Amino acid sequence: MTTNTQTNLSTPVTETLNRHVSVRAFQNKPVSDEMLNAILAAARRSPTSSNMQTYSIVVVRDPETKKQLSVLAGNQQHIIDCDVFLGFCADINRLGIAIEMHGEALAKSLETTLVSSVDAALVGMSAQIAAESFGLGAVMIGGMRNHPQEAAELLGFPQGVYIVYGMSLGWPAWDDVPPQKPRLPAELVIHRERYSQNDPRPLIREYDEALADYYGEQNRNQHRAAWSGPIARRLNSPRRPFLKATLEKMGFNLD
Ligand SMILES: Cc1cc2nc3c(=O)[nH]c(=O)nc-3n(C[C@H](O)[C@H](O)[C@H](O)COP(=O)(O)O)c2cc1C
Repeated sequence: MTTNTQTNLSTPVTETLNRHVSVRAFQNKPVSDEMLNAILAAARRSPTSSNMQTYSIVVVRDPETKKQLSVLAGNQQHIIDCDVFLGFCADINRLGIAIEMHGEALAKSLETTLVSSVDAALVGMSAQIAAESFGLGAVMIGGMRNHPQEAAELLGFPQGVYIVYGMSLGWPAWDDVPPQKPRLPAELVIHRERYSQNDPRPLIREYDEALADYYGEQNRNQHRAAWSGPIARRLNSPRRPFLKATLEKMGFNLD
């Protein structure tokens, strides 16, 4: 596959990033509190919009809670099998309290919703990189937005907190971890100076084939349009159409 980002330069961080694969199969082996703390401490150094730190991380080790979270996420077995589940939440509750300490009220807006969701995304990504640098494996779980209110009740969230995504974390069962998934050609996603005017279709077709070969090698989905096909089927109607109303009920503004 063509790429315009090939390089011989590397650092321990880029090596960790270049080794990334989502891990959904775990050994029955604990992640020590010390290692988890190191991961969380490093993740908390992430940049955060205007230093507002509008996120919270919920650490779940309890098997029964993980079981219920798995059901909420559409029966994702790795949530049960992982040693630690992390919930990365947008949190404007604490922000509201800080503002009330000055006799003011938080003016909620789409911007505060976006800022808190981006903060949650950044801290979670840092946690994943830190975890992978220790040799742990992880997979993010957007399925946690299938039932945001139920997840909030289960985890005891106040108003103004929703789980943007979860993460299953543990020691990988490498024999059951697939090889790295090919990425879209760099030319499709990296634009030099201005957005490319080139027709993306030939490179999308090229990627469809590469991904089909990847799945074929694992005796999975042999559909030739392995990327665009499933996306077309999945996104031809709105995903999670309830989200706007649900998040508004949970204390977020989307206008
Ligand atoms: C925000 C987000 C949510 C995701 N949600 C899920 C999920 O619910 N279940 C799952 O198995 N994988 C989930 N993934 C993992 C992606 O499927 C995975 O990153 C993608 O297929 C690329 O594969 P790779 O990470 O192994 O390179 C999620 C990834 C992200 C970034």
